[in-house]
Amino acid sequence: MSEAPLLSIRSLDVDFHTRSGIAQVLRGVDLDIPRGAIMGVVGESGSGKSTLASAIMRLLPGNLAALRGEIRLGDTDLLKLSDAEMARVRGQRIAMIFQDPMTALNPVFTIGTQLADAQRGRWPKASKRELLERAVDMMAKVGIPDPKRRLTQYPHEFSGGMRQRIMIAMALLTEPELLIADEPTTALDVTIEAQIVKLFEEVREIFSGSMLFISHSLAVVSSLCDSVAVMYAGRPAEVAPSTRLFEHPAHPYTAALLACEVGSEAERHAPLRSIPGQVPSVINVPNACIYADRCERAIETCRSGVPLFREIEPGHRAACVLA
Ligand SMILES: Nc1ncnc2c1ncn2[C@@H]1O[C@H](COP(=O)(O)OP(=O)(O)O)[C@@H](O)[C@H]1O
Ligand SMILES: [Mg+2]
Repeated sequence: MSEAPLLSIRSLDVDFHTRSGIAQVLRGVDLDIPRGAIMGVVGESGSGKSTLASAIMRLLPGNLAALRGEIRLGDTDLLKLSDAEMARVRGQRIAMIFQDPMTALNPVFTIGTQLADAQRGRWPKASKRELLERAVDMMAKVGIPDPKRRLTQYPHEFSGGMRQRIMIAMALLTEPELLIADEPTTALDVTIEAQIVKLFEEVREIFSGSMLFISHSLAVVSSLCDSVAVMYAGRPAEVAPSTRLFEHPAHPYTAALLACEVGSEAERHAPLRSIPGQVPSVINVPNACIYADRCERAIETCRSGVPLFREIEPGHRAACVLA
């Protein structure tokens, strides 16, 4: 018997009001992250990855038009909590790391103060000295040299890569059950990106919680994640254990993404291949497979209804009639 997943999302829909009408930004998202596992979420820009993170954190913008479905963290249905209860979940059970650490760090406080304050909600009775000691310890674990000295420095005194290490330390210091990382390496240059991905791999040794790792790159999630969800225009296209997804992609979109990214060293330095066509609008969505217009394999059936997101083998699901 398998243990209940830590995070379980069912039939999640998110709509926003826009000037052109209602945008169906997320539709029918179903995800399970087992305890201690890392799930990658991959999709082109605009595919709804950040909105998914915001929905889990319940930090959706004011033009929200609809929020339906279920987001369970352990036994807690997050969409049923009061705002005050949800604020406690954010401070203690879920932590988030953003693409740009500067948006999350306050430029006028030292790193030490911010790392101590981040732990306040979790350990209300601890002294500042204890919290700073924990901070120094964690800074060392995430590869920040000379952490004691760096406590008294300000965010601008750190490089981009070091700032992202600070954010990872800050998230881990609260010992969350779920860590959400939203494109944490996208703002970094390639060498630093590789170092931070490696750090996430090492984090598994000191972090027992689950992780949702969002990226626009299949290559980045391939090494790190146990399973991968591929999103297309706010809809789940395919979810599978990482190795299955890379060896046997079932959805033509996953296959196309892989073809864009995977290749010899020489190919990778050539101009990036991309999938012809554009990500469709999610306003006035037709009753058809949303990928059909870009799909090389599309047949008539694809345009006559939305494909079910169905299981094709244990733990492997795809929203494609051909899968
Ligand atoms: N507050 C909002 N109002 C209207 N549309 C939004 C809002 N936030 C995001 N969107 C739209 O939702 C889609 C998904 O956005 P996002 O979740 O940021 O995608 P990703 O993180 O995958 O790039 C995009 O088309 C974006 O323009
Ligand atoms: Mg995003």
